Amino acid sequence: MQASTPGFGLRDKVVLVTGASSGIGAATARAFAHEGAIVLAAARRAAEGEAVAESIRAEGGRARFLQADVTREDDIRRLVETAVADYGRLDVAFNNAGTDGRFAPFVEQDDANYEHVMNTNVRSVFWSMKHQIAAMLRSGGGAIVNNASMGALIGFQNAAVYIASKHAVMGLTKTAALEYFPRGIRVNAVLPGIIDTPFQDHVWGDEAAKQAFANATVAGRSGTAEEVAGAALFLASGQASFFSGQGLVMDGGYVTQ
Ligand SMILES: NC(=O)c1ccc[n+]([C@@H]2O[C@H](COP(=O)([O-])OP(=O)(O)OC[C@H]3O[C@@H](n4cnc5c(N)ncnc54)[C@H](OP(=O)(O)O)[C@@H]3O)[C@@H](O)[C@H]2O)c1
Repeated sequence: MQASTPGFGLRDKVVLVTGASSGIGAATARAFAHEGAIVLAAARRAAEGEAVAESIRAEGGRARFLQADVTREDDIRRLVETAVADYGRLDVAFNNAGTDGRFAPFVEQDDANYEHVMNTNVRSVFWSMKHQIAAMLRSGGGAIVNNASMGALIGFQNAAVYIASKHAVMGLTKTAALEYFPRGIRVNAVLPGIIDTPFQDHVWGDEAAKQAFANATVAGRSGTAEEVAGAALFLASGQASFFSGQGLVMDGGYVTQ
């Protein structure tokens, strides 16, 4: 994907978004569809995922929900195979599905949480990129955007496993970028800060704690899922044709402080 025309140039691109039933994934699926892309919106919850796809179609966009659990390699393989079989290729993937797991001090962490978070946030991205890159090589190139976190750059109390998982996503991103940039596949990541989605509700449990965290940004607020979507579209587009292996931070200044 080379920069050639103004705008994102995503019309008719075949785009897979994981974790599209909620939050950042749903907003990004909508944003890709708004740019004219054909969106395959994947998640486990069928009712929520179908509702996102239906709302996109109601606004004139092209979207289809595919039920998938990203902790299962077979499901990931099927997502890529569906894109290729039904639309001829996979141009863009936004590997966004993720979990916070259970935040707790080190000594209270357990193996079950470790397995859950690492499978959902890391192994899924590893498998996804493996199958997506293979398909993109066959069709001549593409762009992958992984959803890491500002937590890929910093530590955070009580979040050892989540933080480690997001550092790992950046390691996968950088390595794949080096291997496949020469063959027409760019791999980058978005690194969101505090974004107002159900994820943050789950982390903090109550509105006051969530707001206190949001107040710790320079912006003095949480970001929106749409603000992350804009960054994901940019990285997926020809406008980012010289970006590879990068993590684009959108955090209202939290990390810069
Ligand atoms: N919100 C933030 O402050 C923030 C900050 C930095 C990074 N992030 C990252 O952003 C990503 C999206 O989070 P969000 O804030 O949009 O949270 P969210 O609203 O809770 O959405 C999480 C999405 O991931 C999907 N998902 C979870 N486990 C899955 C699995 N095993 N298979 C398939 N899909 C799965 C969920 O769909 P189903 O439950 O339907 O499967 C849902 O669509 C995550 O990777 C998260 O780490 C969020």
